[in-house]
Amino acid sequence: MNNSEPKRYLVTAALPYANGPVHIGHLAGCYLPADIYVRYLKAQGKEVLFICGSDEHGVPITIKAKKEGITPQQVVDKYDGIMKNAFKDFGIDFSYYGRTSSKTHHDTAQEFFRTLYDKGVFKEEITKQYYDEEAKQFLADRYITGTCPRCGNPNAYGDQCEKCGTTLSPTDLINPKSALSGATPVLKETKNWFLPMGDIQQSDEFQEYIKRFEGWKSNIKGQCSSWLTEGLQPRAMTRDLDWGVPVPIDGADGKVLYVWFDAPIGYISATKEYLQLAASNWQLANTGDRPEASGQKPAAFEDWWQNDETALIHFIGKDNIVFHAIIFPMMLMTHGKFILPTNVPANEFLNLEGDKISTSRNWAVWLHEYLVDFPNRQDELRYVLTSIAPETKDSEFTWKDYQTRVNSELVSIFGNFVNRVLVLSNKFYEGKIPAITSALTDERLLTCRQTCLDSIAQSLHAMREDLDAVKLRDAQAEFINVARAGNKYLADTEPWKLIKTDAESVKQIMFDALQICAKLAIAAEPFLPHTATKLKAMLAANDLHWSSLFNENILKENRQLGTAEILYKQVEDEEILKQLTRLENIKIANIQQPEASSLNEVKADITYEDFEKLDLRVGKVLEAEKVPKADKLLKLIVDLGFEKRTILSGIAEYYQPEELVGKLVTVVANLAPRKIRGIESQGMLLMAGNDFGKLYSVGPEKDIEVGSVVK
Ligand code: 2FM
Ligand code: ZN
Repeated sequence: MNNSEPKRYLVTAALPYANGPVHIGHLAGCYLPADIYVRYLKAQGKEVLFICGSDEHGVPITIKAKKEGITPQQVVDKYDGIMKNAFKDFGIDFSYYGRTSSKTHHDTAQEFFRTLYDKGVFKEEITKQYYDEEAKQFLADRYITGTCPRCGNPNAYGDQCEKCGTTLSPTDLINPKSALSGATPVLKETKNWFLPMGDIQQSDEFQEYIKRFEGWKSNIKGQCSSWLTEGLQPRAMTRDLDWGVPVPIDGADGKVLYVWFDAPIGYISATKEYLQLAASNWQLANTGDRPEASGQKPAAFEDWWQNDETALIHFIGKDNIVFHAIIFPMMLMTHGKFILPTNVPANEFLNLEGDKISTSRNWAVWLHEYLVDFPNRQDELRYVLTSIAPETKDSEFTWKDYQTRVNSELVSIFGNFVNRVLVLSNKFYEGKIPAITSALTDERLLTCRQTCLDSIAQSLHAMREDLDAVKLRDAQAEFINVARAGNKYLADTEPWKLIKTDAESVKQIMFDALQICAKLAIAAEPFLPHTATKLKAMLAANDLHWSSLFNENILKENRQLGTAEILYKQVEDEEILKQLTRLENIKIANIQQPEASSLNEVKADITYEDFEKLDLRVGKVLEAEKVPKADKLLKLIVDLGFEKRTILSGIAEYYQPEELVGKLVTVVANLAPRKIRGIESQGMLLMAGNDFGKLYSVGPEKDIEVGSVVK
């Protein structure tokens, strides 16, 4: 991309796995920011395509199918519709929502793979993979469970331990088991096609591409630079599975494309499907000499994906960073015909009432359920989620905070201002915009007016800058500041009192206040689209356009207004209590019936001799600090009496470094050293951990010398 203004914007939002309904974490992390940004671009009249769809392949789908006793196809058919409707209900305005099970997608993904294959991009390799002899199939990483070599969690997956966050390979697991049959898997040779990421990393084109990271958010830069510094490894783009896009070459029977190869191609295939549809609609509208034939012919596929004048922007959550900022661009680059991403705005995660959102533990606020309890109150949730958007770090949704933000910001500031203006206009001018017959002369009123207008202009400029920079949380705060300034204008001038003594001045004040309402209606569109529509109807001004945002006289004198409505209802304590009770019940159910809980399983017996192999010692933490770019890790210096050790521990979520200094801990002193994030960890701290991933250090109950043996 050159530095000039892009001609068009191709915006994508991560294709969600079609294995469950949509929750607030999805919305806050990816879909809402993407939608706000797209609405902002569209409001300015930019040419935009907003693409999303269901990711219908991958192991999460097959696992869900197995759990529910149905086929993967039945799973995706069920959730594709549910997800699509939830997005629609919340005003997420995709140009097109596709599915990766569609024929166009299968054809497109296969063609893409074949192009890379014909160009000799892939390296063919025979490797040993775990195979389940009972189920007669190779096991994807998520189908293998075992004990985490790092923290001892007996339910770690073949690609990751969800307790301590360590990235694993299936062969790292102790006592691996097949999640399909429970059998111990065996290693068996199989051929797969690898993307030589290390080689591509060295290429001039890739080195040129990564210069773009400079202008991107720091979370992307951080994650990518640690991947790049460690050096990229070849990654298999094919898998031995039966659910997915079949590998389109000879000798690849029983293999499918790696889901992270096919899913991002979903953006390309969904664009194709959209353009086919758009072309036939355009054709229909433009045949013969029908007077309504109108509109520009949609840009061609090549213009969207293969033209440097297009900005390609991927909205994602932080767990998708490497795939969108490194792997997919490598695929596009080696293919040769495609543009590379202009920006990848990635958000961090949203937590719920002190805990991680989890589909399997039902610890979530589901969009479809929210709408049952809060009908037609989509914008309230959009508003709160944008106010707390995890743009720079993980953030937290609590129902109490939801209530406070809705009541004290939407109801008391925005809703109250609009309502006062419309009620007074009805009362004073029979619902018409007053005509100003003489200019304000009162010094105090003039100052109030100027202060208000200046503050609004400043907020709107700041809002626009924040929107351009995809700082949507700040942008929305500036939007509310506009209503705040309007409220203050009314409070300072009190037109309801002034009308008795100076009706002429009140005309000016009310005229201004109505113009502010118009500005709010325009500026609300990206953030609160349902409110924007309502407010435009109340002002009888459906044609309000972004380009008049900075105009002084948007609504002309004597124009008749529409019917006033209350924009937002107060959130009552009982409504919040109901939600909190629901979550409390879920917590209780999870504790009584922990899902695949490690707490209910006792590991196989060991002998005393086995136990004696462990050298457990009392240590004292001398220093503790966060490990840069690793959310969970703390680096500790621990005194064991006979020596000091550097130990990395995955407890950053549960301890502030300073809390640990001086604490006595139990250390596994003879655990072989291991390198994590380039730092050698020389031991492990004993921890008590529950099913929710909580970890607390286990130390001696009373003061004792460091180096004492724990036995
Ligand atoms: O993390 C996820 O939910 C993935 N299904 C995202 C895929 S994004 C893209 F590549 F399609
Ligand atoms: Zn672990």
